Amino acid sequence: MKLRNKILTGIGGMIVLGIVSVMVVTAYDSPCPTISPADPGGETMRALVPRCYGVANLRIERVPKPVPKEGQVLIKIHAASINPAEWYRISGQPYVIRLAGGIGAPADTRAGYDMSGVIEAVGPGVTRFKPGDEVFGGAGGALAEYALAREQGGIVLKPSTLTFEEAAGVPIAAVTALEGLRDNGHLAPGQKVLINGASGGVGTYAVQIAKALGAEVTAVCSTRNVEMVRSIGADHVIDYTRSDFTQGEVKYDLILDNVGNHGYLAMVDVTRPGGRIVSVGGQKSNPWLGPISRVIVSRPLAGLFTDVELPFFVATIGKEDMEFLAQLANEGKLRTVIDRRYPLEKTGEALEYLGGGRARGKVIVTVH
Ligand SMILES: NC(=O)c1ccc[n+]([C@@H]2O[C@H](COP(=O)([O-])OP(=O)(O)OC[C@H]3O[C@@H](n4cnc5c(N)ncnc54)[C@H](OP(=O)(O)O)[C@@H]3O)[C@@H](O)[C@H]2O)c1
Repeated sequence: MKLRNKILTGIGGMIVLGIVSVMVVTAYDSPCPTISPADPGGETMRALVPRCYGVANLRIERVPKPVPKEGQVLIKIHAASINPAEWYRISGQPYVIRLAGGIGAPADTRAGYDMSGVIEAVGPGVTRFKPGDEVFGGAGGALAEYALAREQGGIVLKPSTLTFEEAAGVPIAAVTALEGLRDNGHLAPGQKVLINGASGGVGTYAVQIAKALGAEVTAVCSTRNVEMVRSIGADHVIDYTRSDFTQGEVKYDLILDNVGNHGYLAMVDVTRPGGRIVSVGGQKSNPWLGPISRVIVSRPLAGLFTDVELPFFVATIGKEDMEFLAQLANEGKLRTVIDRRYPLEKTGEALEYLGGGRARGKVIVTVH
């Protein structure tokens, strides 16, 4: 064998060995501790603590009640909501997310983000909020009795038109819908938008936000959700159990794809030239890469064959977008479709349900 071939074979072998090693390491599950940690003493609270991967392993523990530092507020949580992101992080799947989230077990033992509640205390320098303010938005570790948030982060005053449970559903799902339609989809009044997966968390807000932005909305959902998506404003509904929207005659200016169950080029066929297909989510079927494989492989490949823009984005929960959504709610243009409510102790069951992919609007966890 020539030296060049030997070197190439060696490099190839090392790459394969590297990939196999990463696969073995990321798929490893550390054993779950069987004994609850001792009561930490001092002021404590109940919190959901993921100490190992798997939603069935989630337990409530007593942990120290947090104290707000400079620029932070302490929120007494009334309700939280869960998103596929929590399912991914707590189940530890697809395995690739463990490279950032922790090998063997979650590195961050806090859980939850979306919440609504009341400001209990403020840290030094805080001027935007005061104790007693009702707020909603994002706070790391929201699946607990109390959580800290940055004063300048994605929390705002709760609109009086929303209950605590309704408000808790909003942050990730509605901001994703807003950023998908407005910032990545460039949706303009009068345009035709199709929302694939219109009955889930993101979809139910997307239908309402697209209407508020002045668009003509076509919602794609299954038979049992047709009336619900009509009730929140969809102009047209396609029941995916009866027809495939990629085979239709209508051309859309924008497709917001929350499901990822159609090939990009099939969707291009029903998008007008120069239009956009915004990818929000995808299928869980690949245990190693999950929806990421579609975004990093299929999307750039499809982009070689079309002038339709194919953006993908990850939502950022900031106070400006939360203010925008609070304003829509105050104007009666945004509400939360609540599917199920679970107490904090049953969050594992809530995540099992959400992970099944059939949620109808939002799944809420009630805390106080
Ligand atoms: N990029 C980001 O920043 C970002 C942020 C949030 C979420 N996401 C992703 O976006 C996706 C949607 O999130 P979500 O919170 O809306 O999830 P979800 O609430 O779990 O979505 C469930 C809904 O999807 C519908 N659905 C399932 N299969 C469908 C199909 N073939 N066609 C049409 N609808 C279908 C279900 O309706 P039926 O039961 O009637 O089928 C159900 O109502 C997830 O993949 C999530 O990871 C991404």
